[in-house]
Amino acid sequence: MKDASPATPSQTIYLKDYTPPSHLVDSVELVFKLHPTQTRVISKIAFRPNPDAADPTFYLHGEQLKLIRASIDGQDANAKVTDLGLTAQAPDAPFLWEAEVEISPATNTALEGLYMSNGMYCTQCEAEGFRKITYYPDRPDVMAVFTVKIEGEEPVKLSNGNDLGDGTWHDPHPKPAYLFALVAGDLVNLHDTFTTRSGRKVDLNIYVRDGDLHKTPFGMDALKRSMTWDEEVYGREYDLDLFNIVAVDDFNMGAMENKGLNIFNSAAVLASPDTATDGNFHRIETIIAHEYFHNWTGNRITCRDWFQLCLKEGLTVFRDQQFSGDTRGHAVERISDVLQLRARQFREDNGPLAHPVRPESFVEINNFYTATVYEKGAEVIGMLKTLIGDADYYEGCDLYFTRHDGQACTIEDWLKCFEDVTGRDLAQFKLWYSQAGTPRVKVDESFHDGTYTLTFIQSTPPTPGQDTKDPKVIPIAVGLLNEAGEEIHATKVCEVTDEVHKFRFTGLEAKPVPSINRNFSAPIILERDQSNAERAFLLAHDTDPFNKWEAGRALARDVMVRMVTEDATPDQAYLDALVAVARDDTLEPGFKAMCFSGPSNDDIQQALVDGGVTPDPTRIFLTGQTLNLAISQTMQDLLPRIYAEMQVDGPYSPRSEDADRRFWGNAALAMLSRLDGGAQAAAQYASADNMTQQLAALGCLLRAEVGEAQNAAFYAQWKDDRLVIDKWFSMQVSHAKLAAAPAKAAELTAHPDFTMANPNRFRAVFGALAGNSAGFHEPGGSGYALLADWLIKLDAKNPQIAARMSTAFETWPRYDADRQGMMREALTRIQAAPGLSPDLSEMVNRILA
Ligand code: ARG
Ligand code: ZN
Repeated sequence: MKDASPATPSQTIYLKDYTPPSHLVDSVELVFKLHPTQTRVISKIAFRPNPDAADPTFYLHGEQLKLIRASIDGQDANAKVTDLGLTAQAPDAPFLWEAEVEISPATNTALEGLYMSNGMYCTQCEAEGFRKITYYPDRPDVMAVFTVKIEGEEPVKLSNGNDLGDGTWHDPHPKPAYLFALVAGDLVNLHDTFTTRSGRKVDLNIYVRDGDLHKTPFGMDALKRSMTWDEEVYGREYDLDLFNIVAVDDFNMGAMENKGLNIFNSAAVLASPDTATDGNFHRIETIIAHEYFHNWTGNRITCRDWFQLCLKEGLTVFRDQQFSGDTRGHAVERISDVLQLRARQFREDNGPLAHPVRPESFVEINNFYTATVYEKGAEVIGMLKTLIGDADYYEGCDLYFTRHDGQACTIEDWLKCFEDVTGRDLAQFKLWYSQAGTPRVKVDESFHDGTYTLTFIQSTPPTPGQDTKDPKVIPIAVGLLNEAGEEIHATKVCEVTDEVHKFRFTGLEAKPVPSINRNFSAPIILERDQSNAERAFLLAHDTDPFNKWEAGRALARDVMVRMVTEDATPDQAYLDALVAVARDDTLEPGFKAMCFSGPSNDDIQQALVDGGVTPDPTRIFLTGQTLNLAISQTMQDLLPRIYAEMQVDGPYSPRSEDADRRFWGNAALAMLSRLDGGAQAAAQYASADNMTQQLAALGCLLRAEVGEAQNAAFYAQWKDDRLVIDKWFSMQVSHAKLAAAPAKAAELTAHPDFTMANPNRFRAVFGALAGNSAGFHEPGGSGYALLADWLIKLDAKNPQIAARMSTAFETWPRYDADRQGMMREALTRIQAAPGLSPDLSEMVNRILA
């Protein structure tokens, strides 16, 4: 049975058309009689007419449901059923709706609604999956108290809220249907407890399949630290006596914040030193925190409609970034967050898929769980905090939590709290939510009679549906240094509000060196004529760690761009600056490693596009090889010592002091491997006692094309661990060069362990291909053709993942005519595939528009 939605005409939904629901729900009682292909769901729902309704017609969403019976106050409901829902004649007074439907979890390959993963039942309802479970007003502004009874053989049966025993659950907090969850299976759990600040004792559990228990302690620890942090920083306490987490192997995204029952992709929660890398540990900590923080920002206060998604996601990402900064250090955290923002969000914001942080229309809401809603949404919160200051920010948050507890809210509700606290008008600030596109800020400077003037000129390029933009309020943090490298003006936030806005710094003895947009205070692209000498100076002296790193980054980017466009040789001043960073004992290892992770292929492409040059991914790749070799040769004498010094003794711990040493040590190993043919990497591979060291070594060997034996050994060692084997799939594609990457991806799809039923496995291969620029864009077009073939195949089973992965094509307008032609051809072929899902077709249409 094919699981893609039936062919119904896709409709565009507009924010401006929002109307309140016809009916409200007082309580919901659900009984699940579990069966792989014939699960019965019996519902009793107490409705009452909404006094604020625009249209009183009683309508319930429902998709792929077999209706067995439905009644209103005990009388046959005479429901008129379509593919998308039903209507019935309802009394103009409170009434009881009772229905029974049949669904088939085992054949639900879309992984939305109730489905099965390795014999276990689980759900994913956000955004609109509950309508695949039973008929219901499946919209976030309808909130209700749920009682759930689960009947089945499974030893563990879980739902939201409190456990009443015997598979029965009651959640006292009214919630929208997207936060409903159910899990049933043969599971084991790690148990712990947490006592909240006001003395509530909370039972904590992480449920996993038998054999995975040893991978749960880190997640549990991260959960407890998140709970403490939210109490200390935001004054938010947990509000139930039980908090359950479940790990699921087949899951479309990272995790889901269902009330009291968070469901996680196993890759986002399970970790042990031998199977997970430092990067995995960090990501798990972030996601655990993120989902936990949603309990207040998302669950207690939810979204009125899906256009407001950034209300919970932008804010919750901001909160998890704050938490990670407090945990692993703010400089390295900020740098990683900005790297991620530029790689995913800037790319999106400057291509055909650009959309506002609060979109105004959509066909399929699942297509709007984007870097713009999440990451740019978080940047917008950060700018608000910078503009109004910490004290007003936290006071505004407190007001938001008290004023809107239990409500479904909008961005307007959120901003009003800060207007009320500060007395400021945030109308101009709100443009960050409605205008798409990355602002460009051009900087001019002048110096006369002790006065230094910075002139900022802002503009935002047109984006789909938005030809012109108004000036935004942009907080640009600036500090000044003198020629000796001393800070002569501490960081000051310049509030740029006009298209052209000047700021003066007086009483200076000489023209200073400015450090602009410190800590990346605004998500913008700065356009400034800056010499490489000044960049090297800031890399050596800036007191703002982010801008110190940024100066090195700008230097590296410029060097690469000149090598690509002017056939320049690797710049000696840049190489010297790197050596100075490596030798500087005042710098942390994590920071040094960050300075050595050069710009990605996509980064250089974005820089070239901004400079009006057509990027050639092949040439960028080959240039990168040349530059990396030059860096390694320049560093040659230092490498053995750095490598030796960064070795961590004793048992593995994911703590950041150790992880940062491994990070810098493995950067040194990567350089060494370009000179020694992989000898040191082979030694590290042979002696590694944790996954970070093992995988880093394997990466160096694969890059040097000498890792065949280790690659085979790795598979043999880990063939029974799905999460490690995902890495094995992905590494081979990431490290394959040029046209070998699509060829390797194609070869791996024939491996017996490849399956497109598991999103992690599919992403391991095709996410790695899309991330390998020079491979995906190899001039023969084999990358495009292969991905198009597989997206068409996957779409019939799992439209959400197919749609998500189609963003690999979003950069097509950047390239030369040949690549453009082949990318468009691949997209047109997808568009023409019979029975294409609304998800994938919306994406392809937008990409091609
Ligand atoms: N709310 C979840 C989170 O932020 C993600 C849900 C994504 N849902 C989707 N349909 N893409 O953690
Ligand atoms: Zn979230």
